Amino acid sequence: MNNFELYNPTKLVFGKDTVSKLGSLVEPYGKKILLVYGGGSIKKSGLYDRVLSELAAIGATVHELPGVEPNPRLSTVHKGVDIVRAEGIEFILAVGGGSVIDAAKAVAAGAKYAGDPWDFTIGKARIEDALPLGTVLTLAATGSEMNGNAVISNWETKQKRGLGSKLVYPRFSILDPQLTYSVPRDQTVNGIVDIMSHVFEQYFTLTDGVPLQSRFAESVLLTVIENGEKALANGEDYEARANLLLAGTYALNGTLPNGVVTDWATHGIEHEVSAIYDIAHGAGLAIIFPNWMKYVYDAKPERFAQFAERVWGIDPAGKSSEELALAGIQATRDYFTRIGAPATLGELGIGAEQLDRMADEAVQFGPIGSFKKLEKADVKRILEMSL
Ligand code: NZQ
Ligand code: ZN
Repeated sequence: MNNFELYNPTKLVFGKDTVSKLGSLVEPYGKKILLVYGGGSIKKSGLYDRVLSELAAIGATVHELPGVEPNPRLSTVHKGVDIVRAEGIEFILAVGGGSVIDAAKAVAAGAKYAGDPWDFTIGKARIEDALPLGTVLTLAATGSEMNGNAVISNWETKQKRGLGSKLVYPRFSILDPQLTYSVPRDQTVNGIVDIMSHVFEQYFTLTDGVPLQSRFAESVLLTVIENGEKALANGEDYEARANLLLAGTYALNGTLPNGVVTDWATHGIEHEVSAIYDIAHGAGLAIIFPNWMKYVYDAKPERFAQFAERVWGIDPAGKSSEELALAGIQATRDYFTRIGAPATLGELGIGAEQLDRMADEAVQFGPIGSFKKLEKADVKRILEMSL
């Protein structure tokens, strides 16, 4: 096990009707609020009205940044920064999925920076200060509700890049599983795949001597696999939605990578696909992840064999590590297919035209991944396998 530091300041407020705590959670940070939300799902569900009434009860003045896109855009972040400056905003409240939360984080940091917040994503500037933010999460997927990361798309340059800082962890996140009842089937599937992918990125490691981290990761996977199918069968199954929501948070809140060298190559590759084609992050991951697995498993087949046995319950009797590993990879693909996720880029109308550019961009800061280091030719091969 490697040395590590664990830091997570986000207060998690989890459970039924916890939106009623919003006023008291916001109040310490000020009365001038920027409410950030997406394309309207919160208006349809009635959550918007509940949030406004909670904020009215503490006498808050609310300005709005609506219309945050899935794969949130830099242009939207700019709009938010302008509102914060013009209105003297003291606190940012994100109500929605990962895209809304990520946009809110970029606005929070961008508002305290004289240059373009895009600079944070390309290493041109570091986040030195940020407005406080909080979230009401409506979709189990990214873990953004309890981490310091945000992913922003620059539509002009067709690039999708991440920023990260301990200064943009949400001060609090409200997670009421009932708020995820209205998530449509395809977004529920995307969320399941994204959560599992976050675990994969941290589980497939060459670091030895990490049994606790491995079992944490396996338990998150088992919980998602089981409850994902239940939530898809009945979108209003409270326990299934609750377990999925909590698993999503734990998959990316800093619990799993402790003392472990993590990978993240597949996320890097997927971001290049969604940067150009604006596809859902989870859909891209469902296509690419099993192909990444096939491409790299031989770096340590025993790790994949353990995955096959413990996560998919595949009987190891009479099988080599290699056979077990491949059976586990196939079981992953089969699960994604069973829940309705895509398996090829072709299904999303994506051909080979931009593979070279995507591979170039994916390695622009050097080789990616750690389980097996990937150069441009490796990334291109994985993309070709995904066509
Ligand atoms: O925009 P609205 O109308 O709210 O609709 C959204 C959106 O269309 C809808 N939705 C959300 N909650 C709903 C709902 N519809 C009905 N009922 C509800 N309760 O779902 C659609 C997708 O929302 P989005 O926020 O885009 O999804 P997700 O949470 O999967 O976020 C994806 C973004 O997060 C980034 C991805 O790259 C992508 O840009 N990621 C962020 C990470 C992080 N910050 O740590 C890590 C991830 O790996 C990921 O890269
Ligand atoms: Zn992800």
